Amino acid sequence: NEKIIIAPSLLAADFSKLREEIEEVEKLGAEYLHLDVMDGNFVPNISFGAPVISSLRKYSNLVFDVHLMVNEPDYLIKDFAEFSDIITVHAEATKHLNRTIQLIKSFGKKVGVALNPSTSLNTIKYDLDNIDMVLIMTVNPGFGGQKFIPEMVQKIKDLRKIKENIDIEVDGGINDETAKLVKEAGANVLVAGSYIFSGNYKEKIESLNK
Ligand code: DX5
Ligand code: ZN
Repeated sequence: NEKIIIAPSLLAADFSKLREEIEEVEKLGAEYLHLDVMDGNFVPNISFGAPVISSLRKYSNLVFDVHLMVNEPDYLIKDFAEFSDIITVHAEATKHLNRTIQLIKSFGKKVGVALNPSTSLNTIKYDLDNIDMVLIMTVNPGFGGQKFIPEMVQKIKDLRKIKENIDIEVDGGINDETAKLVKEAGANVLVAGSYIFSGNYKEKIESLNK
């Protein structure tokens, strides 16, 4: 039984008090902080960028897990490497995924590659040995609070079959019920935004671990 890591998504936090929000989830046992960066181009929404994230770095020991929903993200990697622990890019957003992976590695950072719901695992077949974490999107990226796409359970199982020792992160529509499904399928890093940040953070985080 693999250890489960909880990654609250800052996108669902109260933006008027980000420091308190992250201190709270860290105190309650979350290990990662999932940071959704959107460019209004790869996805139809804009969130926050490097200045906001770097200003939080000094208040947190959480692993900063940056999810770049950005087209051709290479121009951001050097800046983000200053304050990130894991940098995840979308396979669909870069023409030269292998080059982008090497670029992230060159700064000594962990590499994540995200796949949209319709993107096949084959896309990353020949890169798997250079990737630390695969992010299986369980919604179409761009917004919090969407419904979990059930077909992604099989995708997680297929990936776990191909690669035993890789982190599999899931993102989108994760709650106590969908968490059970994805954990059983082989996911070990659970992103949750609206589920954690609405209601009692402690109970929500505990329920994801069960
Ligand atoms: C969606 C983002 C997610 C989002 C998840 O594009 O990548 O990280 O915050 O939100 P919930 O958990 O509410 O589906
Ligand atoms: Zn995300």
